[in-house]
Amino acid sequence: MRVYDETRADGGVHEQIAEAKSKLGADLLILGHHYQQDDVIRHADQKGDSLQLARQAAQNRIAKYIVFCGVHFMAETADILTEDRQVVILPDLGAGCFLADQANINQVCAAWDTLSSVTDEKITPITYVNSEAALKAFCGERGGAVCTSSNARGVIQWGFEGSGKVFFFPDQHLGRNTAYQMGVPLEEMIVWDPELENGGNDKRAIRQARVILWKGHCDVHHEFQESFVETIREKHPDIRIFVHPECNFNVCQKADLVSSTGGIINAVKQAEPGTKIAIGTEHHLVNRLRNDHPDLDIVSLASFVCKCETMYKINPLNLRDCLVNLVQGKIVNQITVPVDTAKAARVALDRMLSMVS
Ligand code: 13P
Ligand code: SF4
Repeated sequence: MRVYDETRADGGVHEQIAEAKSKLGADLLILGHHYQQDDVIRHADQKGDSLQLARQAAQNRIAKYIVFCGVHFMAETADILTEDRQVVILPDLGAGCFLADQANINQVCAAWDTLSSVTDEKITPITYVNSEAALKAFCGERGGAVCTSSNARGVIQWGFEGSGKVFFFPDQHLGRNTAYQMGVPLEEMIVWDPELENGGNDKRAIRQARVILWKGHCDVHHEFQESFVETIREKHPDIRIFVHPECNFNVCQKADLVSSTGGIINAVKQAEPGTKIAIGTEHHLVNRLRNDHPDLDIVSLASFVCKCETMYKINPLNLRDCLVNLVQGKIVNQITVPVDTAKAARVALDRMLSMVS
């Protein structure tokens, strides 16, 4: 495997990408998630958080090839939302998501069967977009929906309007932080551990719960600890702390802002010159915000580099290779969701997209 070193210019690779892009013209759309390294994001036609990128994929009816600089579930989502003739490509097929890998369809079906046998109450399944396509299909088929970190509140609210309980997977933190912000007390939430009988809960707790949270988390956001917030506040009492809702409950409770990637970017843009901000999210985004806003004093909430290794698998070399192949008429690393799964997943995605403005 060739290793790309982002600290050193790799001879000609950026020029080769630019040349392939100009040859492919409007046939090509490169989408880039904000967590991508600078040397990749500079080539994106559009960049965004997961909701913005899902919308951009759904709206583009011109490009024949959509090259997704992000992770696997994002490329799957783009494949579901685009037309059959449009091809979605992930430059490195190993770019998965640690969080999405923590719930599979067999586990979720088993949990659903148990929940349905314990309670007669209607349950709405909601999957975070960071999940395999089969889980989105599962929600589509059972009256549920997808959410992203930008719209989780609205989607959970919708879930409560149609039922007594919400079954939220795979990220417990996004579910807990959002439901708590909405006024659901912690005592009305339980955690479902797929390794344990009844998810590790007694039947009474299942019947009483309003929110059932899958025991999953993001390894990157899990690194941010409550003690980091305390230490940084002690040193800089006037610092503002912005964190992603995939961070744990105690970190989010102590932060000034808990928001999606897009929300954090907007809050930084609106900050007064001179504001000190500590950000609890992926390293490449924090670094870019620091470089883009020299009038602000931006640091990571962690003293070490907290980066998403799977996002980082996309690099200029594998981006260049897939574009050069396209110029030669060869499609490599295509992401294709099976037709039946895509159809049901689309129902859950459309429910989400119709709920957000
Ligand atoms: P956003 O929905 O904020 O883009 O987050 C995606 C993600 O993977 C966060 O870890
Ligand atoms: Fe998945 Fe976490 Fe990486 Fe986001 S930061 S893509 S949730 S592993």
